[in-house]
Amino acid sequence: PRSGRVFSGIQPTGVPHLGNYLGALENWVSLQHQYPSVLYSIVDLHSITQPQDPTQLKSNILDMAASLLACGINPEKAILFQQSQVSEHAELSWILGCLTSMPRLRHLPQWKMKSKVKNEGSVGLYTYPVLQAADILLYKSTHVPVGEDQVQHLELVQDLARIFNNRYGELFPEPCALLSSTQKVKSLRDPSAKMSKSDPQTMATVSVTDTPDDITLKIRRAVTDFTSEVTFDPETRPGVSNLVNIHAAVAMISVQEAVSQARGLDTGAYKKLVSDAVIQRLTPIREEIERLRSDRAHLERVLAQGTCRARELAAPVLAEVRQRVGF
Ligand code: ADP
Ligand code: NA
Repeated sequence: PRSGRVFSGIQPTGVPHLGNYLGALENWVSLQHQYPSVLYSIVDLHSITQPQDPTQLKSNILDMAASLLACGINPEKAILFQQSQVSEHAELSWILGCLTSMPRLRHLPQWKMKSKVKNEGSVGLYTYPVLQAADILLYKSTHVPVGEDQVQHLELVQDLARIFNNRYGELFPEPCALLSSTQKVKSLRDPSAKMSKSDPQTMATVSVTDTPDDITLKIRRAVTDFTSEVTFDPETRPGVSNLVNIHAAVAMISVQEAVSQARGLDTGAYKKLVSDAVIQRLTPIREEIERLRSDRAHLERVLAQGTCRARELAAPVLAEVRQRVGF
C-alpha cells in the first residue's frame, strides 16, 4: 500500500455513463484498496454553476450515491459524502479565491468551454476551479485522480497551495495528479467526440443502467465504416476502434486480445460480441443500483455517515487556516 490521501469528486448527474465508469469510477474502486485514506465527494456545489431543478438535483444526488456504491465504492474504505453538507468547502473556497487573480482563471478549460455556450457564465462557473482547489486542500490531499482535461485545474490547486504556504506558513502539501491511463470512450454516434452526458442523442451514450436490449440496440447502431473486417486504428477507423476499446475495457483484456477475438467476424457479428461483453459487465451494477434506489433511507444514512467523517477531517484544517489568516 502507498501513503497519502486521495480525493476526487463527481457531479451529481444521476446515473453515470459507460465513459464515466471506465474512465473514472473503475479506477476510484481500485484506489480505495491502494491508499490508506480516500475521499470521494458528490460535488453538488459544483453542479449549481449550471441551472438545476431542485427536485431533480436531489434525486440525482441519491442516484449518483447508489451508482457509486453499486460500482464498488466501499464506505468502509472510502469516505463517500455530499460536498454541500461540509460547509468548510465553501469557506475555504472564499479564502483561496482571495489569493487568486482574475486573469489566472480566465484561460482555464472549464470556463472557456462552458461559458461559450451561452456567451456568459455565472461567477460560480468562473471560480469553479477555486472551489475544486478547496475540495482537495481541505483534506490536505496528496493524490488526485484526474482526466487529461483537468490537468490545468490541478496546476491551479498546486499554485494555490504554494501561494497559501508562502503567505501564511507551510500548511498544504502540493497534490499530484494520478492520470487515468484508459482511453476515452467515444460517442457511439460520432466517434470524434467523447461519450458525454450532455450529448442530446440518447443513442450515443450507454448508461450503466441501460437494459440488455438498450445496450444491444445502441451498439448495433454504432457508427462504423465500410470495411467489414475488425482492426484497431483510432486515426483512420475511430468507430470500430472505439468498439475495440470498449470491448477490451469491459472484458479486462488488452486491445490486441480484443482484436484477436474479433478475427473472422465482420463488424456486425463483432458488435454482438461487444454488446454481450458490456451487458455482462454492467448487469450486476444495474441490478444493484435498482436495489439501492428502492432504499432511499439507506442511501441517506451512508451519505450522512460520510459527511460526519469528512467533517472530522475538514474542521481542524479549516480552524488552522482561519487562525493563520488572522480571523
Ligand atoms: P461528462 O462528459 O459526461 O459531463 P464529466 O465531465 O462529468 O462527464 O466526467 C466525470 C468523470 O468521468 C471525469 O473523471 C471524466 O474524465 C470521466 N469521463 C467522462 N466522460 C468520459 C469518456 N467518454 N471516457 C472516459 N472518461 C470519461
Ligand atoms: Na467535469
